[in-house]
Amino acid sequence: MGGATERLTLLARAWDEAAEEYERYFVPRFAPWVDQAVGAVTGQPLPPGQILVPCCGTFPELPALQAGFPDREIFGVDLSAGMVQIARARAAGSWNVWVVEGNAATLGPEWTDACAGVVSVFGLQQLPDPAAALADWAQALRPGGCLSVVFWPTEVESDGPFALLSQVLAAHRPLADDAWQAQLGNVLAGAGVTIERDEYLSFPMSHEHAEAFWTAMTSGGPLRSVALAEGDEFMGAMRETFLAAAPAGQWNHMPRARWIVARR
Ligand SMILES: C[S@@+](CC[C@H](N)C(=O)[O-])C[C@H]1O[C@@H](n2cnc3c(N)ncnc32)[C@H](O)[C@@H]1O
Repeated sequence: MGGATERLTLLARAWDEAAEEYERYFVPRFAPWVDQAVGAVTGQPLPPGQILVPCCGTFPELPALQAGFPDREIFGVDLSAGMVQIARARAAGSWNVWVVEGNAATLGPEWTDACAGVVSVFGLQQLPDPAAALADWAQALRPGGCLSVVFWPTEVESDGPFALLSQVLAAHRPLADDAWQAQLGNVLAGAGVTIERDEYLSFPMSHEHAEAFWTAMTSGGPLRSVALAEGDEFMGAMRETFLAAAPAGQWNHMPRARWIVARR
């Protein structure tokens, strides 16, 4: 239990430190996935109820959600106080938006059957038990409600900066257990929802050069938590290996994320 709490605290601290750079560097690059995820819930009739966004980060989902649901309450939940601060600034002046600082891995009973829509982008793969969390999010839906979740699978690309990064890290750290990714269909069926889509979404992404990508990942992305856990010497060695194997100049790639849409 102590280990789990420590990991959560470290993750929250890492995203606190990363928040501003994440907003600057990654939010524009991740926008096509966010648009797609939000579009699944705004583009169809829904029952009455709230819209919940677990792992909202700086809340890039919000503008399209507000445009689609001007009369509904919209809640974002994120672990990181730094992320929540930026999300609240994005929501400032909106009567119907709340950003809660908290753990979205397990929703409280107040969420059961409360939501017309649940949207989450690039948070699920960070949770300690993603399959259980997804089932929990599905239970938050009312009959007719829609769940739209985008996450990074184990293999995001076969060639490109994410592929090289995985390769470099895999040589020095234990591989994450990704068995949960094959369980999501069963888990959602068990939670009483029907899957309408389960597919990969690829969009082009570009980085000025390999070093810009490395810097963004370590200062404003998921490598911030690796940096906090492993320290400067480890990160220095990883950086050297990564840059030595990376191509020169602008780096263009087509990462793929997995997108699941389900309805109760
Ligand atoms: C890559 S960001 C994605 C943010 C946003 N949804 C987007 O698409 O840009 C992942 C977010 O998940 C949050 N997160 C990680 N574990 C969490 C947890 N257990 N509960 C709530 N948020 C969590 C992090 O704090 C971070 O803000």
